[in-house]
Amino acid sequence: METVLSGIRSTGNLHLGNYFGAVKNFIKMQNENNCFFFIADYHSLTTYPTPHDLHNNVRMVLAEYLATGLDPEKSAIFVQSDVREIPELYLLLNMNAYVGELERTTSFKEKIRTQPENVNAGLLTYPVLMAADILIHKANKVPVGKDQEQNLEMARKFAKRFNFMYKVDYFPEPQPYNFGEELVKVPGLDGTGKMGKTAGNGIYLVDDEKTIRKKVMSAVTDAGPTVMNQQMPEPIDNLFSLMKLVSEQSTIDFFKDKYNSCEIRYGDLKKQLAEDIIKFNLPIREKILEISSDNDYMRKVASLGAEKARASASQTLKDVREIIGFKSF
Ligand code: TYM
Repeated sequence: METVLSGIRSTGNLHLGNYFGAVKNFIKMQNENNCFFFIADYHSLTTYPTPHDLHNNVRMVLAEYLATGLDPEKSAIFVQSDVREIPELYLLLNMNAYVGELERTTSFKEKIRTQPENVNAGLLTYPVLMAADILIHKANKVPVGKDQEQNLEMARKFAKRFNFMYKVDYFPEPQPYNFGEELVKVPGLDGTGKMGKTAGNGIYLVDDEKTIRKKVMSAVTDAGPTVMNQQMPEPIDNLFSLMKLVSEQSTIDFFKDKYNSCEIRYGDLKKQLAEDIIKFNLPIREKILEISSDNDYMRKVASLGAEKARASASQTLKDVREIIGFKSF
């Protein structure tokens, strides 16, 4: 049996990128593996949520996890900050993480570019905390979207380095897990790049019909094709990528043909896409609202998850402390 671990940062609600990039696979995995799925609330602190928002966001992500089909009996579903062993492993791993390699990660360089006024050390060592999340459960499989590929590579590097340094074969090297398929990148509605929580270009699982229609109708397009069978520019290609996630093949083929014959009306395509997203989202949205109003249930789930996660984490930390050479008198 494999140990699978993945997480979602609690900086906002789950969007379609989270769902199709990661969560959809979590659900498939929970029957066959020893699974740990968690809410990365320490990671969310790099964006300074208010105390009220911090807790509320965690609650929502937990409700969303459950609404999409994660089963608290089968998997450990937990909140990162409930497992104090994680920050200790993070501290230990930090001693062998080099500033140069952290500065070279794409996500860090991106932060320097987009928020030069707040390049905090938490952002720099973000991949180390993520490695601690993974290694604390000695996970060997990590389902992630394409955007987390490099962070996972860093986790492998830190695992290997620890093993080499202490001449042990302790940490497995965690591999991406997507059932052999390519890692996914779900695009946003703004024409370029991926759907993201902070980019404001996402459709959330909890969005209602009106919001979804409004967002999809305002997605970026272009003036339309002028040459038969021409290559699609990114914003149009992105709309088709979203369609592939939620629409019937016949619908996609219909609009592809229209595009190829230069007869496409983007308004029609967007209307159809919005309806298909609504059809997909609606049952999940209803469950999210139902679960999030049941605080007792959420408390039970979080506490069961924390218990399972702590049991596994404390064993690892005990081993690691011993390997490093901490001893009591
Ligand atoms: P986060 O919260 O940004 O995203 C959670 C998961 O959703 C995937 N994802 C996407 N996949 C495809 N297309 C998209 N547009 C898209 N947007 C998000 C992400 O790849 C991820 O799998 N640092 C992580 C959270 C984390 C974590 C970990 C993940 C903390 N520790 C340990 C795995 C293992 C993050 O910010 O993901």
